[in-house]
Amino acid sequence: MAQRETWTSRAGFIFAAVGSAVGLGNIWSFPFQTASNGGAAFLVVYLLAVFLIGFPTMLIEFTIGRRSKQNAVSAFAELGYGDWTFAGAIGVFASFITLAFYSVVGGWVISYIVGSVTGAYLGDAGAYFGSVSSGLVAVGAHAVFIAVTIGIVAFGVADGIERATKFMIPAILVLLVGLAAWASTLPGAGAGYSYYLSPDFSVIASNFADIVPAAMGQAFFTLSLGFGVMIAYASYLGRDDSLPGDSAIIVVLNTIVALLAGFAVFPILAATSGVGDASGGAGTAFIALAGAFGQLPAGQIIGLVFFVVLLFAALSSSISLLEAPTSYVVDSQGMERRTVAIGIGAVAFVLGIAPAYGYVGLFNDLVFNVLLPVAVLFIALFVGWVANREAVDELGRGSSIGEGATTIWLWWVRIVVPIAVIVTLYLGVTSFYTGLTTGAYF
Ligand code: PHE
Repeated sequence: MAQRETWTSRAGFIFAAVGSAVGLGNIWSFPFQTASNGGAAFLVVYLLAVFLIGFPTMLIEFTIGRRSKQNAVSAFAELGYGDWTFAGAIGVFASFITLAFYSVVGGWVISYIVGSVTGAYLGDAGAYFGSVSSGLVAVGAHAVFIAVTIGIVAFGVADGIERATKFMIPAILVLLVGLAAWASTLPGAGAGYSYYLSPDFSVIASNFADIVPAAMGQAFFTLSLGFGVMIAYASYLGRDDSLPGDSAIIVVLNTIVALLAGFAVFPILAATSGVGDASGGAGTAFIALAGAFGQLPAGQIIGLVFFVVLLFAALSSSISLLEAPTSYVVDSQGMERRTVAIGIGAVAFVLGIAPAYGYVGLFNDLVFNVLLPVAVLFIALFVGWVANREAVDELGRGSSIGEGATTIWLWWVRIVVPIAVIVTLYLGVTSFYTGLTTGAYF
């Protein structure tokens, strides 16, 4: 058998993982979830979720991936626990469902690129969002986005995307810093910062049942956890990479991008439509940013650059979403890669017609509240209670962390992660079910 490929450098792996992690989740979903869930109260819970639960969970996926050197579905059998294959399969299924609505939001970005060229959103940013976010325009743009994603995965130009990621991440950082700096000069920016940054802890208490599942779901989504994607990426890692070190870099970079997006969006919201309990909704970031571009000198050009960069960030994430189910079918059925990518992409396109007609919230919450916590719960139980110690010790290989640190992590994964995820799941499923039965999604 041919020697399995590995990343050519440590930086190559980190960039690919950051490319998957940094995407619409950071710049669209994060500000929108924060705005709709009480602002700073959400932010506090979200940061706790990222560092206390997300970071150790990334280590779970990295450990399974590097140890097994397999995709998320085959990994469990390779480690000797074929009964646990379902745990990886849930993640692959989540990738597929996510792709369907991610592509719709990716389509919005395409419409905003067009709008930057024609100037269509400069006058009334809210009306423009209304005209492109659902209906035929949204379906068309969704078709374009998914076609490009399929093209990249089917024809294997992922190399190009990987190289592009190296420029995109710095470009996103520079653009967001610039926007945030400009936003800080707006009248009323202070109200935006205080909604974003000064937590009202009574809000956490009174909205616990909404904030916790939203924050945990957002943490998993933004770090690409529970999809099997990080298992697959880590399967190409060499033995002398430090899993905790790489993971820390990815988590921190990803968090910086999201926080910066908030620093751009909240002052703008405060200066325009206002922040408060009524703010939020899927259009938050698009309307706020496009509205800002409408007021900036050379805003049209800045807008164009911004949305092009955002498109690249979305594509480097969506290819990993399509790659997960594709590589699984290719490996297990021995079918041709091109056929599989086109087939799965086509089904995801059809499924995406629903979110393109206004059901983004339904898909979003199915993934955030149900699929991701379920997937994470099972992989945590697997590493915590089922996998043998030899597999668990993979965590420390190639790093300077000792046996003791591995044991602390193991107990964290045994007890804390499952309890947090079970609470999340209970609240998340309840709120999803309430949404379904009260018609909130329809
Ligand atoms: N992490 C990506 C984002 O924040 C979403 C994603 C999840 C992409 C899983 C790939 C795999 O946009």
